[in-house]
Amino acid sequence: MTEPTVYIVNGPNLNLLGAREPEIYGTQTLSDIETECRVAARNLGLGLVFYQSNHEGALIDYVQEAGAPGIGKGAALIINPGAYTHTSIALRDAVAACAIPVIELHLSNVHAREAFRAHSYISGVATAVICGLGAGGYTLALDAAHRLINNQSP
Ligand code: DQA
Repeated sequence: MTEPTVYIVNGPNLNLLGAREPEIYGTQTLSDIETECRVAARNLGLGLVFYQSNHEGALIDYVQEAGAPGIGKGAALIINPGAYTHTSIALRDAVAACAIPVIELHLSNVHAREAFRAHSYISGVATAVICGLGAGGYTLALDAAHRLINNQSP
């Protein structure tokens, strides 16, 4: 039996982690986070697709590949949509169409920052939201995804 695969999809500017506003987003690079996620996924018996794009349509393609009915290959989706969180109805629609658990993830506590970050187009169609735990939120989200896949409470 092949192991269930979790998709982790990262949006715009997250390729700059480590260099970008480290006082807000921390000093770990996206590659550091990917390495930690690969170790955690292996320990949980999960396959992992880890992806980043600065382009809205490319992110939607990956969300569909993860979870769209009929074509989705993932067992759960973790998505940090970056600033598209606050702007993208198209990404919301793609997440709403997912037939798998979806965890919205942010490094920073978006509710403790500028007012425009408090609104998310994604939260209303996500299974759960994690924010404000920095890079550590990624492995926590993987643990939660593992529980959701196994129908345990997260
Ligand atoms: C972010 C929060 C967003 O508001 C911001 O636009 C980002 C990163 C986070 O991980 O904290 O790019 O999603």
